[in-house]
Amino acid sequence: MLDSAATRTSPPITVTGQPLIERGGDILALTPRQIRRIARARGPSQTLPGIVMRQAATEYRLWLVRKVNFRHRDNHAAVSAYCEMDGDDFRGINARQSWSNWRTIPRNLAGRLPNRPVRVIDLCCGIGESTEVLACYAAPGSWLLGLEYSPRFVAIARERSRAIRDDRGQPADVHFVAQSVLDTFRDDEDQPLADASIDLVNASGAVGCHFDRAATAVLAREVARVLVPGGLATIDSGKSGTSSADLRTLFADQGMEQIGDAHSCVFDRYRQLCMRKS
Ligand SMILES: C[S@@+](CC[C@H](N)C(=O)[O-])C[C@H]1O[C@@H](n2cnc3c(N)ncnc32)[C@H](O)[C@@H]1O
Repeated sequence: MLDSAATRTSPPITVTGQPLIERGGDILALTPRQIRRIARARGPSQTLPGIVMRQAATEYRLWLVRKVNFRHRDNHAAVSAYCEMDGDDFRGINARQSWSNWRTIPRNLAGRLPNRPVRVIDLCCGIGESTEVLACYAAPGSWLLGLEYSPRFVAIARERSRAIRDDRGQPADVHFVAQSVLDTFRDDEDQPLADASIDLVNASGAVGCHFDRAATAVLAREVARVLVPGGLATIDSGKSGTSSADLRTLFADQGMEQIGDAHSCVFDRYRQLCMRKS
């Protein structure tokens, strides 16, 4: 049985019963005010200082009591540390990331994501908190797949998936698979994803922390393989993993051009780049 705190998701809120997003045109249109409003309605309800303190306390306890340190650029070391965590540990250390996702991801999707059902992959999805943001912004009828190394996190994500909603408050078509994203991406029927079959690939809180340049080169090849022409990749970058300059170069080598970037607030050291496959 999974712990209740770990399986909790934000309530399926629509503001005054209306869809959260007006989907008039061909492309997702969002104002900064709408993004803030949706982040408050669907994202973590704690204040940012409270979130930062919670994260620091969990990280300190993990490190001091259990000698678990997940802050590794070496991907093997990072996933080994994540595999030591249970759902509550993860919620604690991911608290800031979870807050950021509700701001960074929509800023990158606004004005770019088609307003029709799309096929989405969320790389390194943890317990599905970033997937929940993608499910809210992808048009109703979209198909979403979260890929995550830790089988324990995938079990929690699957449990939570029943409560993951689109912007109308309807259950989203979301699936989770346990695998390394450094291997061929596979679907929930254990089939390799076809070439040019995905509209959007997202990574949040992963490549900028836990992937060195060589690992990101492997990832970029696989992302470019599965994306449709014109498809989007929103991938996080950071100095402790792969920098934004390296990310831009590695994706350019795969025929992908940077078309934007976003971060959650002025204190956020990680930038998520948005790239388009030509
Ligand atoms: C900081 S968490 C971010 C989780 C999620 N994207 C979010 O924003 O809530 C980083 C996650 O990346 C996963 N991860 C790291 N390397 C991975 C790999 N090679 N394959 C799959 N998952 C990986 C870790 O297990 C961890 O769950």
